[in-house]
Amino acid sequence: MHISVLYHELIESLNVEPDGTYVDCTGGGGGHAALLLQKLSSKGRLIVLDRDMEAVERLKVRFAEDSRVFVVHSNFADIDKALHDLGIKEVEGVYADFGVSSFQLQDGSRGFSFRKDGPIDMRMDTSCGEPVSEVVNTFSESNLSTIIYKYGEERFANSIAKAIVKRRAVKPFTNTLDLADVVRGAIPKKFHKKGINPATKTFQAFRIYVNGELDAVDALMSKIALLIKEKGRFAAISFHSLEDRIVKEWLNQYALTCVCPAEFPVCVCNKKAEFKIINKKPILPMEKEVVENPLSRSAKLRVAERL
Ligand SMILES: C[S@@+](CC[C@H](N)C(=O)[O-])C[C@H]1O[C@@H](n2cnc3c(N)ncnc32)[C@H](O)[C@@H]1O
Repeated sequence: MHISVLYHELIESLNVEPDGTYVDCTGGGGGHAALLLQKLSSKGRLIVLDRDMEAVERLKVRFAEDSRVFVVHSNFADIDKALHDLGIKEVEGVYADFGVSSFQLQDGSRGFSFRKDGPIDMRMDTSCGEPVSEVVNTFSESNLSTIIYKYGEERFANSIAKAIVKRRAVKPFTNTLDLADVVRGAIPKKFHKKGINPATKTFQAFRIYVNGELDAVDALMSKIALLIKEKGRFAAISFHSLEDRIVKEWLNQYALTCVCPAEFPVCVCNKKAEFKIINKKPILPMEKEVVENPLSRSAKLRVAERL
């Protein structure tokens, strides 16, 4: 079971047009999608994307009876292609709830969890790319350290990379709990935080790396202006600063008017703002939600309207 984060906030922020066409970039368990469908008329349409085949199968079953829903196995980086294949040029809204679902986290066999044992995979789309086992067993110490630092913002990246390389020389890594143990051992005890597994940042780093998560967010953001109609909305929930920064910077760029150097007496660039930012500060979950669903604690929702 996956509890949708900022459940009402995300869908309310879209100002849903009942006859409109919407894209859910990250279908997951279909929680947000189901709420959006309550706001659509029989003429409305919802395109639901997910790059995880298991999620796609689950979403197809959940919405089998609803002719307004089109579930597509696609990376949201290819949102333009997915819409083109359906003969859709423009939509009234696009939304995303980045990251992993509880279905993925709770299934040890997918390898996302440092709590459940399983093969070290972590790919959302298992039909392509390399599993994390390949990374931890073959990458150089300096590459490992760079990945852990860059995508996990982990200050002990060097010692973790060193410990991984030392351990795999004796026995290659096959299981998630084993990897989590080695990571934990490489972080001095006094830096272990109560209630947070010391392997959290390292697992996040490897997950982001093998799934090319930041590149996918960047590609999605680069395409929304071409796909969203005037007055249509974009809304996205991110779960860590790296992802949020990409969304924020793209939206700020879209919202800019003139980009001429300050010393130019008149505007020569003629840049027009393409989006208006709806909430200058991101919308955060209420305390009650964080208590009920600790996974929501780092969520940030940003919303913008196409001009
Ligand atoms: C946090 S869950 C979404 C949960 C959903 N909003 C709900 O209410 O049930 C994120 C989902 O996005 C999918 N996903 C992550 N990155 C993706 C990408 N680049 N393209 C398509 N789907 C992606 C994951 O496979 C996962 O199923």
